[in-house]
Amino acid sequence: MAVAEAELVKTGQDDLFQLAKGFYTTKALLALWRMGLIERAAKGDLEVDEIAAEQSSDPNLLRPIFDYLVVRGFLERPEPGVYRLTERGANAVPYCGYLSTMVGAYEPVFSHLEDVVRGRLVYGKDVLRSHEEMVRGLTALEDRLMGTVAEVVRGAGASKMMDLGCGSARMLTRICALQDGLQGVGVDRDPNSCAVARETVKDRGLEDRVTILQADAIDVANLPRDVVGGVDMVTVMFLLHETLRQRGRGGTVRLMREIGALVGKNGRLVMVEVSGNPDPKYRENLLFVPEYELLHEYTNQRLAPRPEWEAMVAEAGMSVEQMAPVDMCQAFCLVAKP
Ligand SMILES: C[S@@+](CC[C@H](N)C(=O)[O-])C[C@H]1O[C@@H](n2cnc3c(N)ncnc32)[C@H](O)[C@@H]1O
Repeated sequence: MAVAEAELVKTGQDDLFQLAKGFYTTKALLALWRMGLIERAAKGDLEVDEIAAEQSSDPNLLRPIFDYLVVRGFLERPEPGVYRLTERGANAVPYCGYLSTMVGAYEPVFSHLEDVVRGRLVYGKDVLRSHEEMVRGLTALEDRLMGTVAEVVRGAGASKMMDLGCGSARMLTRICALQDGLQGVGVDRDPNSCAVARETVKDRGLEDRVTILQADAIDVANLPRDVVGGVDMVTVMFLLHETLRQRGRGGTVRLMREIGALVGKNGRLVMVEVSGNPDPKYRENLLFVPEYELLHEYTNQRLAPRPEWEAMVAEAGMSVEQMAPVDMCQAFCLVAKP
């Protein structure tokens, strides 16, 4: 009895410390990511004195976080004051956008989760995720989607593409830049995202081909005709699970139907989404869906499983033409035609 109890306590303690280690390691990596030091480490050594001088910070404040990540296997210290990514660290670099999309962007909500759960803080009124960090994370991950979506747009022979919930508009502008003459319209309801999107368009010299509209995607049928006329391709990347909660299933199907009407019978809807999985039997083996679902529950969004998305597309009077692979866990790219 006593032995069993002792074992139980030990197991429970190990378990909790394991979780705490994950938390501290994540926070340390997130801090470096936000400071731009992970990309920098991917290009060369991190020299504490040099970084401290550039950032007008104290080297003694930088060293502990680097040393901690040495202990956790992400950095090594070839000589005093110099840090370098280990193989483990280097392997994590292409995925660091997830630090923002899974953790950093939702910190304002999760650092007060008990108040959100008790209803003392209401998402959208008292707390909001960080749009800026969400967009930054997705931007860092865009290469994982880019090939698939660009290929679909090219294959469909689109002449004018509209990206609903365009965020930073990096995807939209990259695709337009790849295809001569392809016109673009980016729509986002968040003013900060629109400001970033306009900067992106300007930086890429695409002002003559790409327009950014600040509007609610749900009002797609009422967007100015002079801007959206001729759109024959609509992309929605990680937006529809937001409208699913904002406007419900009926509102989302209506939006899809209106997209179908806008693009016409030769046009296409391309949606990229993460498939939720309602079956508890599979959930714990999925790389990120349980956590991703949890954060959506408290931030006015709802993930749906892939068959439900397919059913909604059908209800909206469209057929699924293609299901293209996306290099992102549990994400899919669905191409539908009216
Ligand atoms: C998860 S982000 C995806 C951004 C971008 N599509 C990407 O893949 O990088 C969702 C974006 O949709 C915008 N959004 C959410 N609801 C919207 C709505 N009803 N109308 C327009 N934009 C919306 C948010 O402001 C945010 O920029």
